[in-house]
Amino acid sequence: MLNFKVDETLCNRCGLCVQDCPSRIIAMGDDALPRIAPDKAPNCIQCQHCLAVCPTAAVGILGRKPADSLPLGPDSFPTLDRMERLVRGRRTVRHYRDENVDPALIRRLLAATANAPSGINRRELTFTVIDDKDAMQRLREKVLAGLDATTNIPARYGYLLEAGRAYREQHNDIIFRTAPHALFISAPPDAPCPNQDVTLAMAYFELLAQSAGLGTVWWGIAQMVFLVLPELKAQIGLPPDHIYYAMLFGTPSVHYPRTVQRDDAAIVRRVQI
Ligand SMILES: Cc1cc2nc3c(=O)[nH]c(=O)nc-3n(C[C@H](O)[C@H](O)[C@H](O)COP(=O)(O)O)c2cc1C
Repeated sequence: MLNFKVDETLCNRCGLCVQDCPSRIIAMGDDALPRIAPDKAPNCIQCQHCLAVCPTAAVGILGRKPADSLPLGPDSFPTLDRMERLVRGRRTVRHYRDENVDPALIRRLLAATANAPSGINRRELTFTVIDDKDAMQRLREKVLAGLDATTNIPARYGYLLEAGRAYREQHNDIIFRTAPHALFISAPPDAPCPNQDVTLAMAYFELLAQSAGLGTVWWGIAQMVFLVLPELKAQIGLPPDHIYYAMLFGTPSVHYPRTVQRDDAAIVRRVQI
């Protein structure tokens, strides 16, 4: 049920919604008002471009009204200078304050992250969040206890056991990087682009979080942890078959007063065909 609604008093019959629809399922009716024929409705990818592109806020779909969207004008996006500063200045933060992030801020970041693009707009992501530092501490203890009890670990995961020892002996928190929170983003393997969707959403979350003054770490070591201790992955509630990635986050206790310099870190090739 698409619930495609056009306010006749606002629609100026410009046809922009018809042109911008990626599935080309909107057509002008005899009254020159846009319509979606019932047999075309199943082809809608629910992207809401029709609602977003309408210059007169006449189009609603899927129960969404244009008045509930954020308005966009020429100055709504961050400037290139500010975006560049964010992209160059974002750092992997490995030192955190022992305090919870305001839950309202976490909810806001996750809601904005849900706007990340996904293959064919399927939006099949699950966000699993540890938003309480005491829960995080319990997970930390379970991981450390699990590693202590693990005897038959493949050599390639030996680093994990060393990391466990480093915490016990020197309080060097290599696995959790002292973070109070973790986010897991997962997608079912049969989604059109699960790896890309998960990684993109995580990258969006990272930039949003850092723009809000939070620190983040892509939590690659969690993949190792949950391969060695799969029962903990189940306890967190991650669907067993889902593709997932994890990120640690919290309020940083370290400040970077300048960017790093990596503009030459990628090979740039110009194609001339
Ligand atoms: C996919 C991925 C996994 C990562 N996993 C970890 C991790 O488990 N622990 C950690 O401390 N840093 C991790 N990092 C952070 C990288 O080491 C870091 O991005 C790199 O050293 C560059 O530093 P920067 O992010 O401050 O620019 C990971 C980064 C990526 C992209």
